[in-house]
Amino acid sequence: MKSINKHSVSLLGFLLLLFCNSALGAEPITIKVATDAAPRVQFGVERIVSALEKIGLAATTTNDAVAQILIGDSQDAAELGNEGFHLQSNNQGQITIHGGGDSGVLYGCLELARRIEAEKLLHKNLDFQDAPVFKLRGPCFGMQKTSILPGRKVYEYPYTPELFPFFYDKAYWQQYLDFLVENRMNTLYIWNGHPFASLVQLPDYPYALEVSPEVFEKNVEMFRYIAKECDKRGIWLVQMFYNIIVSQPFAEHHGLPTQMDHIDPIAADYTRKSIAEFVRQYPNVGLMVCLGEACVTLDNQVKWCTEVILPGVKDGMQAAGLVEEPPVVIRAHATDATVVMPKALEVYGNLYTEAKFNGESLTTWEPRGLWQEIHQKLSQLGSTHVSNIHILANLEPFRYGAQRFIKKSVQASRDRLWAQGLHVYPLAYWNWPDAPDKVTPPLQQIERDWIWFEAWARYAWNPDIEDDADQEYWIDRLAEKYGTREAAEQILTAYNESGECAPLLLRRFGITEGNRQTLALGMTLDQLINPEKYRPYPELWLSQAPHGERLDEYVQKELAGEPHTGETPVSVLSDALACSENAVNAIEQAAPGVSTNQAEFNRLKNDVSCIRAMVQNYAAKVNAAILVMKFQQTHDTSLLNEAEQQLAESLEHFRKLTLLTNGSYEFANSMQTDTRRIPVTGAIGTEPVSFHWSQMLPVYEQELADFQASVAAVNGGDTTALFRREKKPLRKAAVKVLTPQAEAYTVQTGTRAYNDQQWRIQALVPELDQLTGIRFPHTTAAQGAYDPVEFEVEEPVLVLIGYIRDEDKQWLQPPRLEMDALGGERGGTEVYIQDAAIVDTLPPIDVYALRFDKGKHKLTMRGQGSFTVLGIAVEE
Ligand code: SER
Repeated sequence: MKSINKHSVSLLGFLLLLFCNSALGAEPITIKVATDAAPRVQFGVERIVSALEKIGLAATTTNDAVAQILIGDSQDAAELGNEGFHLQSNNQGQITIHGGGDSGVLYGCLELARRIEAEKLLHKNLDFQDAPVFKLRGPCFGMQKTSILPGRKVYEYPYTPELFPFFYDKAYWQQYLDFLVENRMNTLYIWNGHPFASLVQLPDYPYALEVSPEVFEKNVEMFRYIAKECDKRGIWLVQMFYNIIVSQPFAEHHGLPTQMDHIDPIAADYTRKSIAEFVRQYPNVGLMVCLGEACVTLDNQVKWCTEVILPGVKDGMQAAGLVEEPPVVIRAHATDATVVMPKALEVYGNLYTEAKFNGESLTTWEPRGLWQEIHQKLSQLGSTHVSNIHILANLEPFRYGAQRFIKKSVQASRDRLWAQGLHVYPLAYWNWPDAPDKVTPPLQQIERDWIWFEAWARYAWNPDIEDDADQEYWIDRLAEKYGTREAAEQILTAYNESGECAPLLLRRFGITEGNRQTLALGMTLDQLINPEKYRPYPELWLSQAPHGERLDEYVQKELAGEPHTGETPVSVLSDALACSENAVNAIEQAAPGVSTNQAEFNRLKNDVSCIRAMVQNYAAKVNAAILVMKFQQTHDTSLLNEAEQQLAESLEHFRKLTLLTNGSYEFANSMQTDTRRIPVTGAIGTEPVSFHWSQMLPVYEQELADFQASVAAVNGGDTTALFRREKKPLRKAAVKVLTPQAEAYTVQTGTRAYNDQQWRIQALVPELDQLTGIRFPHTTAAQGAYDPVEFEVEEPVLVLIGYIRDEDKQWLQPPRLEMDALGGERGGTEVYIQDAAIVDTLPPIDVYALRFDKGKHKLTMRGQGSFTVLGIAVEE
C-alpha cells in the first residue's frame, strides 16, 4: 500500500508540473546552436529538447544570441580538459554550455538534460563543471560464439546474420549506443579473429571474402552505420583482430592454415592489403591488434607488426588522404609488449597500449608483481595505456554489482597501473548480446547487467566520488529498479557482499585466472591438492592476488608450527563464508520491500543463493584438501576419515548449486571449448561437453565414491591407495619417419635422444621403455630452426613429447592456454608423465601426450626450442 500511495502522489505531482510548465512556458525554450555543429553536439541538443518535452516544455533551436540556452563552441578545451564541460547561467538565467571539444559539449548537454528530467524544471541558477579522469572509457563485445564452428578454429567467426543477428538490427544499436552515451562511455571495441574478410573486398584477392556478396554489402552498410551512430554519441569505434589469422577461403586457395606462426609472404601481402583497405573504407574506425595467439614467436610478432600491420595502416592512410596517424592499440596479451613497443614506435607514432587488469578474471584491486610492472612500463611510454577488465571467468554466470570492488579496481587501474583508459568486458562475453539465464526470450546483457557497466563507467569518469554520496546514488538507482529505498539498500549490500566471494576463492585456490578455469563449476580434490599437475599459472597469485599463502605452503607452516603471513586459505574461507552469508541475509531482508521488477529480483536472489552454495562447496572441499595434505605428511588416518566427511559435505553443496541452477541457467560459462580444462574439459573437438553443473554432478559423485574406496583401502593397510590412478598401458606403435634429418629409434637407457649429440638416456620410466621414439638434431631446434618432422602411423596414436624442464631459451615450453588458445588442439596441455626420463646431464624431462589420427603428419610444435620425442604409442 505504501508504495502505491507514493506513486499516486508523484504521478499527480508530475501531471500538475506538466500543466504548470506548459501553462507558464507558452513560448518555446530557445537553444542557440551553430547550424554546422558537429553531429555529437546536435545529438546533445536533441537530448535537451526531448528532456524539456518530457516535462511539458517546447523547445526550438535558433541562431539568436539571446536564446535561453547557448551551446558554446569547443574553444574552451584547454581550460576544461578534453571532454570536460561547464554549465553556467548568468543573471538573466541564460544558460551556457561550454565544452572541452565537441564531446565536452555533448556531455554538458546530457548533464543539463539529466537535470531537467530529474528535477522536472529548467534551473536558472547553474554553475557546474566536470571532466573525466580516464581518457578512454568503454566496453567491448565479441563477434564470437560459445563454441567453435565446425571446420573452424578459435576466434574464427565470419560476420553473418545467422551467427550475429543483433549486428544487423538498427533498433538494437540505438538502444545499446544510447546506453553507452548515457554512461558517458567513449569507446566501443568489437572483437573478432579476422574481421577483414567480412568487411573489405580486395581486388587482388577476390576469393578471400568469407561471406556472400549480399551479406558483404549488408556488412559494409551496417559497419558504416554503427560507426556513424557511435560518432554521433562521441564514441570511438575500434575493431580488434588476432594474428596471424587469414580468411578460410584465402587459406584454402593457397594451401595455408588459417592460423599460423610463420610469416608467409602471400599471407603478409593479403593482411597488409586488408588492413589498408579497412583504413581506407572506415577511416574513423580504430584498430586494436593482438599480435598472438596463433603467432607465438616474439620475433615473428615484431616483424608482423612492423612490416605488415603498421605499414598496412600507413598504406590505408595514404589511400584515404589522412594526414594524422589514427591511433592503433597494441595489446600486451600473448606477446612481450615491452619488446614490441619500442620497435613498433620506430615505424608508427600514434600507438596506444592495452593490458589485462586481472587476467581473465576479477580477483583483486591490489594487482602487483610482474603484471603491475608491465602495465607501468607501458603507461610510461607516454601514450595512452588502457586497463582491460577482460573476460570474467570467475564471475560467470552470475550477476555482479559490487560497486565497492569495482570502484577500488578503477582506482587501482589509475594508481597502481597508471592507466588512462578502461576497457570493460561484458559478463558473458562469448554469448553477446544475451544473458545466460534460462529465460525466453533471452535477457539482454545490457539490461541484466546494467549495474556492471554503469559502475565501471561511473568510476572511469570519476574514481574518487565520495563514499557516502556514492552509496546514496546506488540506493537511488536500485530504488528506481526495485521500488523502494529500503529494498535498494539491502540489495546494494547483497551485491557488494556477494561480489567479494569469487575473487577471494579464485585468487587463493584457483589454477589460473584464465578462461581455462570456470570457478562456478567447482574444482576436483586433486586439483586443490596437486595443482602442479594441472599447470597452474603462478601470476594468478603473484600478480593478481594480495600477498598470501597457497594451500601447500599453509599446510607446511601449520605442521611446522610456523606463523602464517598475508591472506591464508583459512582466512579466505572465513571471509567468503561471512560475505556470502551477509549477502543472503541482505537479499532476504530486501524481499518484502521489492515492489517492481519482481521476476528480476527473484533471479538476483537466486544468484545470491548460488554464490552461497558455491562458497560452501569450496569451503568444505578445501577443508578436505587440507586434511588430506596433513595426512600425507603425518599418516594419521583419522584425518582422512574427517576429510571424507568434508568431501561428502562439499558434494551436498554442489548438489544444491545444481538444483538452484538447473532451472535458472543455460550454462555456467559462455566459452564452451577445449580451452576449458578446470575442472574438466569444456569440449571434445568442437562439441561442448561440460558447461553446466548438472554435467559436473556425476563427476563429483564419482570423486566421492573413489575417495571413500581409497580411504577404506588405506584404513585396510594399503597406504598408497590415495589418488592412485591406474594409467592405461601403452603399446608400441609402428611409425615411419619421412624426414631425412630425423630417424626412428628404440627408446631405452643408454640410447642417444638426439642424432647430433652424444647425450644418452640415463633413466626412464617403464611405460616408455622399448617404444619407438624419433630423434632429430638438437642444435637447429635449440636455435629456433626446427624443421617439422614428417611421420606416418597406421592407427591413432599418442606422440609422447619430452619437454626439458628448464626455462632457458634453447628449450621449447609446453603450450600455455592462457596465451595460446590453439595450444590444446591435440591435447598435451597437462603433464602426462612427470619426471619421465633423464638424458645425460640435462634437467629432468616431463612427457606430454599429443593425439594424432592414422595417416601422415607433420609434427609442428608451437613456439621455438628443442624437445624430444620419447615414444609413439597407442593407449590401450
Ligand atoms: N584469451 C583471449 C584473449 O585474451 C580471449 O580471452 O584475447
